[in-house]
Amino acid sequence: MFEHLKDQPADKILSLMAAFRADPREDKIDLGVGVYKDATGQTPVMRAVKAAERRIWEEQQTKSYTGLAGDPAFADAMTGLVLGDAVPRDRVAAVATPGGTGAIRQAFELIRMAAPGATVWVSDPTWPNHLSILRYLDMPVAEYRYFDAATRDVDLAGLLADLAQVAPGDVVLLHGCCHNPTGANLAPAAWDEVIALLRARGAVPLVDIAYQGFGDGLQADAGPTRAVAAAFGECMIAASCSKNFGIYRERTGILMALTEGAARQERLQATLAFLNRQNYSFPPDHGARIVTTILTDPALRKDWESELDAMRRNMQGLRQVLAGELQRLTNSDRFGFLARHRGMFSRIGASPEQVEAMRRDHGVYMVGDSRMNIAGLNEATIPALAKAIVAVGA
Ligand code: LMR
Repeated sequence: MFEHLKDQPADKILSLMAAFRADPREDKIDLGVGVYKDATGQTPVMRAVKAAERRIWEEQQTKSYTGLAGDPAFADAMTGLVLGDAVPRDRVAAVATPGGTGAIRQAFELIRMAAPGATVWVSDPTWPNHLSILRYLDMPVAEYRYFDAATRDVDLAGLLADLAQVAPGDVVLLHGCCHNPTGANLAPAAWDEVIALLRARGAVPLVDIAYQGFGDGLQADAGPTRAVAAAFGECMIAASCSKNFGIYRERTGILMALTEGAARQERLQATLAFLNRQNYSFPPDHGARIVTTILTDPALRKDWESELDAMRRNMQGLRQVLAGELQRLTNSDRFGFLARHRGMFSRIGASPEQVEAMRRDHGVYMVGDSRMNIAGLNEATIPALAKAIVAVGA
């Protein structure tokens, strides 16, 4: 049977990881996969995570199954973190998932089950795996304009024009904060316009929030997601703990689906648990337990928030320094957008040939669409990157 298998398309981000590892140059710079790195190039285990793991190791009495939806305490803690008090808790059905990707996958399957013909609208560009999974599931997809290549900002007029075409019952995937791959984000007033338009169209939003705390802070970053949850009778939210807790390999995420009325909420909750059962039965627990331990212990939570804030400020600082260096080298404000963008990523607007030249001639690895991971930089590598950007004519 396996002779019938065809080659599958390589994932752009993950193949870049492999190419970087294989490059023998010592001064190579990895700006590929979205993983936070400190000034020494390490991806540290956060202090509160270490403390929570120790506590779990000391206190955990069993590793027997949790529930199909995961530990309800995790759902409560994450609902609080993401939604605050924007909606009553009894509107929310929630299941733990293997990472944010697991939440996205379950959301797509939920959509397919509830509304098989619904088109899922994604931003152009979006995280490549959104499109890859939608195509794999053979679901109808449409793209809405998002990025203005000239200003490297959001193309709000194009976005609103395209979303005005959404049919009632279609799903619109929105990045809650820190848009991946562009780094360009909707301003609060633009969010209001998008929400009003989608309400008028009868659309169902699906918010992917994978970087809460990496933009302007935990509360500010959750603002748009909370506004969406409060404005729509039905919506979905896929949240990841990979980045803000730094527990990438523990695969920790959550899918929340909101509806109205106790009977619907109960059926929705049961459907999400059913989908977990079909795909992997019980979701992973270790990462979820770490997160719950941190969020429910005031001292651990305070320490986590302060370390996360330091990471965020570090990325913000790197953005300022890089924008400043490029301003100095080009004698222009062309790269000022780097300081305005938020989160780990910025799409700098280089052509695929220029990206290739940066890799070949300068050992700088960024994704082919010129997305770079700001957290892969440090003050020592910024001058080399800036020189490479200018040398290839980007
Ligand atoms: C990224 O966009 O680099 C991350 O979300 C990692 C991944 O799985 O692609």
